Amino acid sequence: MEVVFRAALLALLFLVNVFKVSAWLPHPHNVSLQTLNTQYILTWAWDQNQNQTQGCTGNQTVMFTAQYLPKFKLKRKKRDWRSVCQSTEDWQCDFTGCDLHYLGVYVLRVRATCAEQRSQWVQLEFCPDKQAHLGPPSRVEVISGPELLEVRVSDPLTSRNASMKDFYPDLYYLIQYWKHAQDEVRGIRSLNTSTNIVTLSRLDRWTQYCVRVQSRYNYYSKISSFSQPICQQTTGSTPAWQIALLFLASLVVCFVCVLLPSYGLLKFYRLIKLNFFPKCQLPAYLNDSSPGSDRPRLLSVESQVEVCCDEIDVCPVVTLPEIHAADIAVETDPSGHSRQGSGDSGMYSNGEGSAQLGTTVTERGQGRGQSR
Ligand SMILES: *[C@@H]1O[C@H](CO)[C@@H](O)[C@H](O)[C@H]1NC(C)=O
Ligand SMILES: *[C@@H]1O[C@H](CO)[C@@H](O)[C@H](O)[C@H]1NC(C)=O
Ligand SMILES: *[C@@H]1O[C@H](CO)[C@@H](O)[C@H](O)[C@H]1NC(C)=O
Ligand SMILES: *[C@@H]1O[C@H](CO)[C@@H](O)[C@H](O)[C@H]1NC(C)=O
Ligand SMILES: *[C@@H]1O[C@H](CO)[C@@H](O)[C@H](O)[C@H]1NC(C)=O
Repeated sequence: MEVVFRAALLALLFLVNVFKVSAWLPHPHNVSLQTLNTQYILTWAWDQNQNQTQGCTGNQTVMFTAQYLPKFKLKRKKRDWRSVCQSTEDWQCDFTGCDLHYLGVYVLRVRATCAEQRSQWVQLEFCPDKQAHLGPPSRVEVISGPELLEVRVSDPLTSRNASMKDFYPDLYYLIQYWKHAQDEVRGIRSLNTSTNIVTLSRLDRWTQYCVRVQSRYNYYSKISSFSQPICQQTTGSTPAWQIALLFLASLVVCFVCVLLPSYGLLKFYRLIKLNFFPKCQLPAYLNDSSPGSDRPRLLSVESQVEVCCDEIDVCPVVTLPEIHAADIAVETDPSGHSRQGSGDSGMYSNGEGSAQLGTTVTERGQGRGQSR
């Protein structure tokens, strides 16, 4: 009888307990962990409208409690859950300061409370090594050099400012770089490196390049976001042929702009001087070139020589029999030979012929004199 009574009492207590625990307060939903390196923040959501419809009435506020326990301790009878956030109104709880071992496996849980009512726990299993997200490098520096850029990458840091390489010795970086032109990301080149200082060589000189870096860890396929792109211009020494070309170009420009006009001016000056202010003046009578004048001229001698040549050209035209006839005529003719005839090949000609030739000569001489 007593046993039955005790059993009934136990059942009643159990029921009361069950009722109390599984009160009408709903549990937080969308529980998840936001992680970056060794920062772990547990977040959840709570529907405000649930206040009145489900138990947390009036001006009672909903509170949340978040705890954790190493997973292996779940099997023990005595589970010493450690509370990280006790009765907080926030919808998140920061587990960063708990020093969760990076290779450990933990169980995190959260529940809502409102006055005496409590919701069920929502549990989450978490292994930092496997699940925590890897952050980008804590710092990226780009130093420009001649046709190269030097990239200095600082490791991502833990919450205690230690390198993440302590946890991931095989951590490496993917460096992407590209020519910066009108905010376009094109022609990206990339390289993997596990060192912290990398030289990007064989770049174009005097060109803007942008660099961004991503941390990677292959074992758990962890890939961080990219660091903010940093843009730098390369420098470069000017090659010898360019200097030579520049020198030549400047020479040409100097020649065209200075020497050529001065030379032209000099020529012009000389021309003016020669024409209008000659050094030696001809005697006045020599300068007289009026067609009808009988005065001797400078050019007449010159023209006579030419006339002689003309006459030589003319000679073959004269036929021999005629010349013989002319000889006889000359011997008989007392008028003698002209000045013209004695000047050339010793051939005599009659007065008519010499007079005619003489006129042509003077005409030619005048023509030349005028043309000069
Ligand atoms: C919570 O998760 C549900 C789906 O599971 C989604 O529809 C809802 O938008 C999420 N709410 C918040 C605040 O994240
Ligand atoms: C709200 O709380 C105040 C005290 O903090 C109390 O005086 C008041 O009666 C409460 N109102 C309701 C509707 O429960
Ligand atoms: C639910 O409770 C929160 C405080 O926890 C309060 O800010 C909110 O206004 C309440 N919602 C309703 C619908 O009463
Ligand atoms: C980590 O370094 C930053 C600045 O470098 C400093 O503000 C912060 O206090 C440091 N944190 C620790 C835990 O040493
Ligand atoms: C970098 O390494 C990853 C994984 O090892 C590989 O998939 C990728 O092709 C490599 N990239 C370059 C540019 O070498």
